Amino acid sequence: MTKVLITGGCGFIGTNLLRYILKEKPGWKVVNLDLLTYAGNLENTMDLAEAYPGRYTFVRGDITDPAAVERVFQAHEFDIVMNLAAESHVDRSILDSGVFVRTNVIGVQVLLDAAVKHKVKKFLQVSTDEVYGSLGSHGRFREDLPLAPNSPYSASKAAADLMVRAYIKTYGLDAVITRCSNNYGPYQFPEKLIPLMVVNAYHERELPVYGDGKNVRDWIHVEDHCRGIVLVAEQGCCGEVYNMGGDAEQENIQIVRSILAHLGRPDELIRYVKDRPGHDFRYAMDFSKIEAQLGWLPRVDFETGIRKTIDWYLENKPWWERILSGTYRDYYERMYGQR
Ligand code: NAD
Ligand code: DAU
Repeated sequence: MTKVLITGGCGFIGTNLLRYILKEKPGWKVVNLDLLTYAGNLENTMDLAEAYPGRYTFVRGDITDPAAVERVFQAHEFDIVMNLAAESHVDRSILDSGVFVRTNVIGVQVLLDAAVKHKVKKFLQVSTDEVYGSLGSHGRFREDLPLAPNSPYSASKAAADLMVRAYIKTYGLDAVITRCSNNYGPYQFPEKLIPLMVVNAYHERELPVYGDGKNVRDWIHVEDHCRGIVLVAEQGCCGEVYNMGGDAEQENIQIVRSILAHLGRPDELIRYVKDRPGHDFRYAMDFSKIEAQLGWLPRVDFETGIRKTIDWYLENKPWWERILSGTYRDYYERMYGQR
């Protein structure tokens, strides 16, 4: 059995990655280390231990706590570590950047130390296209561009990428970095654009669009991202960075309009609000490297993916209602009798 540590497995991408791995990789055993911050929802993963007996373990713990991390590494002898644990929301990083530096930078350093000490075979850092900064109307991000992050969130992710590089050069750690564009799909916390707009449209509440709504993101279905993460963990070359994107550039306003149309709600619900400070104008990924070297391409076309995603949120109303009411946080107490 290949023993894998996934951090942040109760978040959006982590939940989808756990489900993907447990289904597609029968020879892999997974430990999910997650602090259960506001963004971690234990309910997302509650069925996994029973559905995959002996192959899934949940550990509540903080990646910034060296003793907690050491206990997990000592108990399991991991072959692969995939770090997804992070503070992930740009708007929150603008309000309070401290926790972003702690989790996204110090947390990575703590994991890297443990990976070196315990001779992990592959360390995979899940990074983001936001480390490259912002594009004008032309061009795409390539892996060899200089890092130019513009928000405290993206600066913390860029710092983490540099720590990974330093541990490869200094300690000979076998590590790789993936940088992906905006993910969409099931289990995304309803503070992010797509689930937030679906929930507001459902309730016929105003849809807050930052600035003029013309900012562009390159949307990728989370399943395509998860498939790429696993491929890079298996076949990626030490020290390399691999971009992933969906080849699906959309202005924010286009997405918002299509959500309204899908729900049969009027465009009058759109409300243009004050822009995000330092708002990156456009992201677009050049993913020709991972295509040429590992044969990865996104498979889910945006029109189909967004339709299915909107339907998932409509069919799983109790899931986001429990988040909005805060009751999802009672899950840990109910399941484990502690907080
Ligand atoms: P998320 O906010 O949905 O989930 C983050 C998870 O990390 C949560 O379960 C949370 O409890 C956990 N966590 C936070 N701090 C922790 C700590 N100190 N110790 C242990 N666990 C902790 O995030 P996401 O959208 O799933 O993103 C996952 C990763 O992918 C992040 O590293 C993010 O930077 C990166 N990424 C996200 C996107 C995207 O579009 N969502 C795109 C590219 C890269
Ligand atoms: O590009 C990858 C990144 O994508 C990840 O690294 C981040 O973790 C993830 O949160 C996401 O960052 P964004 O800032 O692009 O995602 P968000 O969903 O917050 O916003 C998408 C776009 O929509 C952005 O241009 C801001 C805009 N927006 C967002 C919200 C929440 C609005 O116009 N209104 C809103 O209410």
